Amino acid sequence: MQETINILAFESSCDDTSVALVQGKRGDAFPRCLSFSLQSQNEIHEKYGGVVPDLAAREHLRNIVPCLNKVLNDTQVKLEEIDAFAATNQPGLISCLLVGHTAAKTLSFIYEKPFISCHHIHSHLLSIFLEYHPSFPHLTLIASGGHTSLYVVKSLDDFECVGVTLDDAAGEAFDKGAKVLGLGFPGGPELDLLAKKGNSQSYVFSQVKVSGFNFSFSGLKSEFARLCSREGKNLHKANAAASYQKALVSHLLQKIKQALKKFSMEEVIIVGGVARNSLLRQSLEELKKQNEIKHWYAPSPHFCTDNAAMVGVFGYRKFIQREWSPLSDSVFATERLSRKEIQKVKI
Ligand code: KG4
Ligand code: ZN
Repeated sequence: MQETINILAFESSCDDTSVALVQGKRGDAFPRCLSFSLQSQNEIHEKYGGVVPDLAAREHLRNIVPCLNKVLNDTQVKLEEIDAFAATNQPGLISCLLVGHTAAKTLSFIYEKPFISCHHIHSHLLSIFLEYHPSFPHLTLIASGGHTSLYVVKSLDDFECVGVTLDDAAGEAFDKGAKVLGLGFPGGPELDLLAKKGNSQSYVFSQVKVSGFNFSFSGLKSEFARLCSREGKNLHKANAAASYQKALVSHLLQKIKQALKKFSMEEVIIVGGVARNSLLRQSLEELKKQNEIKHWYAPSPHFCTDNAAMVGVFGYRKFIQREWSPLSDSVFATERLSRKEIQKVKI
């Protein structure tokens, strides 16, 4: 029997084409990333101020083989040595998902190895295990351009969604705010940078009131747009960015703190693109210093945003549990939970 398990993973759910090879020794709970390649499409979508699905799908078609070749060249692992082919199948843009999903299925068919469909959000959730070994249970915030949710993570395979955004995702609120300020795309990193030069006390935003551990960002987003148009040329952009960022991060932190208390937990994980945010990271460090939490972890920046290595971790867990997918499996724009998962969700 082979000593190692090699999973080749594909991610193409939105505007990043990514391929990764993750490897674990038999008996390992999670794998490590041997190599991953990523081709982003920011330059293509920038002029439209958002992702254009058909353009994104065409770019995935162009980029997927070069991304695959890079990983195979880096690792010198041959396709014959892959134990399973994994790809994101939900949620995401259908035309985009189809590219990575079909690539993985095709390889699985040719090399007669298992195929595994992967859940994008749950892959983000497992991304932390590429670099850290947090203890269980812990609270995970997934905040990206398309999703914002809170999970109580009891083990590598047992997690429960306890809160979701009722409207926009946190990353979307960052992106829209950046657009109003005339910053580049995606706006989150640019707004984060500009905020460093501003005073976060300059403009005051309302406190978001939403039930349970759910989130809502649309009110703050509209308030920010109104502020910018009201102030016009008098708007101090850096102060506005800093104040808006503070309001968004405060909302995330408020829900994190509430959930930690309710579920008696002391470890927080943040994943997804917004986990790169400097104020969010700094605020968690403050909570740790004040002994409100024991530890907090975030993936390295390249594993926060969409990448195939996290899909590899999800695929690896499914592989070792022999939860393989049929080659007739489909892709979905919104998440489809299994019956087992539906029973667990108590929103
Ligand atoms: O996880 P991701 O690549 O895509 C989705 O699955 O949606 O996250 C992308 C999002 C974008 O909205 C981007 O603006 C945001 O993450 N983002 C940030 C930062 N870096 C990326 N938001 C706030 N601060 C950052 N430093
Ligand atoms: Zn994502």
